[in-house]
Amino acid sequence: MIPLPTARQRALAAHRDRSGGVKCFAAAAPGRVNLLGEHTDYNGGDVLPIAINLECCAVISHHDAGSRAEVHAVDLRDTAVFEADDLDVYRAGQRTHAAPGESWRAYVAGVLALMRWRGPGLHITIAGDVPRGSGLSSSAAFEVALATALGQALGQSSDPIVRARLCQRVEHEFAGVPCGLMDQAVSCVAIPGHALLLRCREPVSFRHVPLPPSAEVLVVDTLVPRTLASTAYAARVAGCRAAAGLLGVKHLADASPIPFGESLIDPAHESGEDLAPLVRHVTTEQARVSAAAAAMEAGDVARLGALLNESHASLRDEYRVSCPELDCVVDTSVRSGFAWGAKMTGAGFGGCAVVLAHPGASHRLAEHITSSFQRRFGRACSTLAVRAGGGAACIDVE
Ligand code: GLA
Repeated sequence: MIPLPTARQRALAAHRDRSGGVKCFAAAAPGRVNLLGEHTDYNGGDVLPIAINLECCAVISHHDAGSRAEVHAVDLRDTAVFEADDLDVYRAGQRTHAAPGESWRAYVAGVLALMRWRGPGLHITIAGDVPRGSGLSSSAAFEVALATALGQALGQSSDPIVRARLCQRVEHEFAGVPCGLMDQAVSCVAIPGHALLLRCREPVSFRHVPLPPSAEVLVVDTLVPRTLASTAYAARVAGCRAAAGLLGVKHLADASPIPFGESLIDPAHESGEDLAPLVRHVTTEQARVSAAAAAMEAGDVARLGALLNESHASLRDEYRVSCPELDCVVDTSVRSGFAWGAKMTGAGFGGCAVVLAHPGASHRLAEHITSSFQRRFGRACSTLAVRAGGGAACIDVE
């Protein structure tokens, strides 16, 4: 079977056709799966994601002295033109009528605006292999690939964490998603074979932790559309902020766990929602990240797997961001005898689970999960064995 062209190959070939082979700048950046530290990044906590070997690629060349960028999204077969003076119309809230599939324009406008591009005129071509809308951070891969290629094209150099923060601002200010720093940071600084232990508060710091060779990483996509994800995500962020205020801490990750049976009601909020479960998840998850990094360093995969299972239970019961399909994948994996542990990964509300499979067992495990899922829901899920890859890089183009 002839392999399909990769995102790099598609972007470079399409760009060559559009720009006629003039000098170009290209960069690629990966998506991610998070092993541990879910919903802790915007609470000043730690996270432990890996970059995956699926990436987005952006190619840029100068075309004239003007201030127009013509951008072609290869996989969407869509082209958009941006004027340096009009980028603000893409700011979140300014443009409420973006059609489905058009959100990529906000990412482009955000990167161009925040990198202060005023010209020269550009041709930009983008293609990606990270599945969209699955919770594997295709948007972070898109923003980071574009920002890295643009940095090169405009002769701007920057520290990778500064670049990650800029891409996070694109999410906040242009996509309207109040996300933490995890996705953009791992896409910028990951190294192959390692997870990234990232401290998400100022000053941001990180260290690379080797992934034990006795664990294979399997990603299972439930294909549950994450339509309500952004509203529900923003509601969790707001709940955590309110809880931190009530408890008098700057970062919720620093709060003391609230015992079961006790509640934390926000008097200012008319719904009277009990915020204690959010606090219990964030504080226990923060402790699990440290334990997981220690387990990885000690090569204790069984302990790492157990921590994933505990994390999933907390995300399901306390943070309430799982769904029956994700729970089914996790339960099936844990009972199969082929896995060290499993949990949902990313924001939740559908999307993917990450499973740590025994060495050599990913294939059998994937078959087992797929058939159980089919029996229970009458439809397929999709599985993908991934490797811990490296972060964003410029590509040498002849
Ligand atoms: C999304 C956000 C991240 C993080 C995760 C949950 O992926 O973009 O910043 O909050 O959800 O851990």
